[in-house]
Amino acid sequence: MKTFITVIACLLWVSVAAPSHARNIKTVGSGPTINFDPAMIPLEHQESYQIMGKKCTTCHGMDRIVLTILTGKAQVTKQPFDREQAAGYGIRLIRMHNTGLKKEEIRDVIRMLQWLIDEKNKH
Ligand code: HEC
Repeated sequence: MKTFITVIACLLWVSVAAPSHARNIKTVGSGPTINFDPAMIPLEHQESYQIMGKKCTTCHGMDRIVLTILTGKAQVTKQPFDREQAAGYGIRLIRMHNTGLKKEEIRDVIRMLQWLIDEKNKH
């Protein structure tokens, strides 16, 4: 019984603690226009941040991107979305037609997302 209670307590703790992992990722706005706070994006990724805001929202909202990073899960399938998944998605996107994005732009935006994923997993 004691073990059972400990297990439940741990599960509760994990479920409460999990969202706080995303606390070091700051966001601005809400709803479909939510975005990562530009102030927390390092200089080397600022250009990608601009590209993302302009070109990554033709097929889905920014919320899809931000929520995927914050939760670590793809929004429809609920499959894990980590560094590797991000790379795989980048390849899918490069292969998609009429994205309006250059291969290098996709690569650099994905690198920024991977930086954000690392940042989220730090604490
Ligand atoms: C041509 C349309 C299109 C453009 C442009 C586009 N996406 Fe997507 N995106 C999709 C589709 C379709 C899916 C869901 C299916 C999949 O994962 O392939 C998706 C899924 C995603 C996901 C995974 C989360 C999820 O809920 O499945 C992320 C993250 C994402 N997009 C980020 C981006 C970023 C960053 C860019 C800009 C570099 C971008 N998208 C540009 C069509 C697009």
